[in-house]
Amino acid sequence: MNVNVQNANGKLGILIPGLGAVATTLIAGVEAVRQGLSQPIGSLTQMGNIRLGKRTENRYPLIKDFVPLADLNDIVFGGWDLYEDNVYEAASKAKVLEPGLLNAIKPQLQALVPMKAVFDKSFVKNLDGKNIKQGKTKFDLAKAVMDDIENFRDANDCNRIVMVWCGSTEKYFEPSEVHESIENFEQGLHENHPMISPSMIYAYAAIKLGVPFANGAPNLTCDIPALIELAKETNTPIAGKDFKTGQTLMKTILAPGLHARALGIKGWFSTNILGNRDGWVLDDPDNFKTKEVSKLSVLEDILRPELNPELYGELYHKVRINYYPPHGDNKESWDNIDIFGWLGYPMQIKINFLCRDSILAAPVVLDLALFSDLAKRAGMSGIQEWLSFYFKSPQTLPGLRPEHDIFKQLIKLQNTLRHIMGEDLITHLGLDYYQDLVEAL
Ligand SMILES: NC(=O)c1ccc[n+]([C@@H]2O[C@H](COP(=O)([O-])OP(=O)(O)OC[C@H]3O[C@@H](n4cnc5c(N)ncnc54)[C@H](O)[C@@H]3O)[C@@H](O)[C@H]2O)c1
Repeated sequence: MNVNVQNANGKLGILIPGLGAVATTLIAGVEAVRQGLSQPIGSLTQMGNIRLGKRTENRYPLIKDFVPLADLNDIVFGGWDLYEDNVYEAASKAKVLEPGLLNAIKPQLQALVPMKAVFDKSFVKNLDGKNIKQGKTKFDLAKAVMDDIENFRDANDCNRIVMVWCGSTEKYFEPSEVHESIENFEQGLHENHPMISPSMIYAYAAIKLGVPFANGAPNLTCDIPALIELAKETNTPIAGKDFKTGQTLMKTILAPGLHARALGIKGWFSTNILGNRDGWVLDDPDNFKTKEVSKLSVLEDILRPELNPELYGELYHKVRINYYPPHGDNKESWDNIDIFGWLGYPMQIKINFLCRDSILAAPVVLDLALFSDLAKRAGMSGIQEWLSFYFKSPQTLPGLRPEHDIFKQLIKLQNTLRHIMGEDLITHLGLDYYQDLVEAL
């Protein structure tokens, strides 16, 4: 079946709450690629191929030539932040990209000035900015974000808009009654309910207007029944949570491999140091808790200790994040993994990953924006589980286990693209044509 996909003509607006290290690295990167100064490495939509049909057919097009995606030249960026810095200033302060590169695209970056943010210090204690919206109720603030979206769309002549949350991690809290239904949620907006966070207000505004929304931080945001319900009502794709980069990316590459070979794991100790603003926000225990929950869920879901208690029943998993300013955005992580093999003999694996957080995150944001837009044009709405590939803590319908294994996530993503384009899904069975090949030898 070929899903009826609308074309990607016209401009796509990518609106980003939080113009910090990740967002500015994305925006500067897309500008650098447009100008032929660099390559979009790490982006599946720009550089990845997809196999179609049988191996004998030798069809491996680039993903961007296979599915209709917005062209990088048709993207317009906008965003909100509680700091007034334009994107050039914010990128310079984030110190991810070299000054030479930033200076080469300075006018384009300077032109991008953040809109006033919806912000509430009770959710992120360590930040203090002045570029903040005032409103009597949270509903007024949501309305103001909707006005921002519509004004941006008109001013930039955009055909379509998507929103990706790149704002700071909000403090940890569990969903409660106000998040249970859209009725309760809207009443909560009018009554300034304390458990409606700023990221939920942006998500509500986007989803209400049918604008696809993806959440790059571990906050609940759109992962609540009220906004899932609204997404269905307004035919809006949503996805989250928490970009999968750095240490967790390595974990979801390695753990499925150990598990696949039925090797046991006794302990996995992960620690890392980083010194950017994200690290400073996560230095607060309430905000760290949100991140910790997101990072911890990964191993259990991949290893399923309840199915293999001999191999994983005693697993001790610990994750630490330490704020260390001298390293800036260049996060360094260490993993010590205690594994055991045949007859229980112990072995160890040590990983020391000297990564660059925002360099890994920027292509993820680009892909999420482009694929969310594709989903919308393909008539897909609600939770987009096929985008789990990009998240540490993939959003699923309540009661469904998330899939963390990066290889299964990739198969799901690729099969979704094949499905959208009416190509055969690939099961990797191969028996159907293997025998013919043997006979032809
Ligand atoms: N870099 C990575 O590899 C990575 C991976 C997974 C998740 N994340 C998450 O992505 C987010 C962005 O990371 P970063 O490194 O760019 O952080 P950052 O601190 O550099 O940028 C976040 C920006 O969001 C702004 N902000 C906070 N609350 C806001 C609000 N309510 N409205 C508008 N702006 C707001 C802050 O002022 C800041 O400029 C963080 O939540 C982080 O945890 C990053």
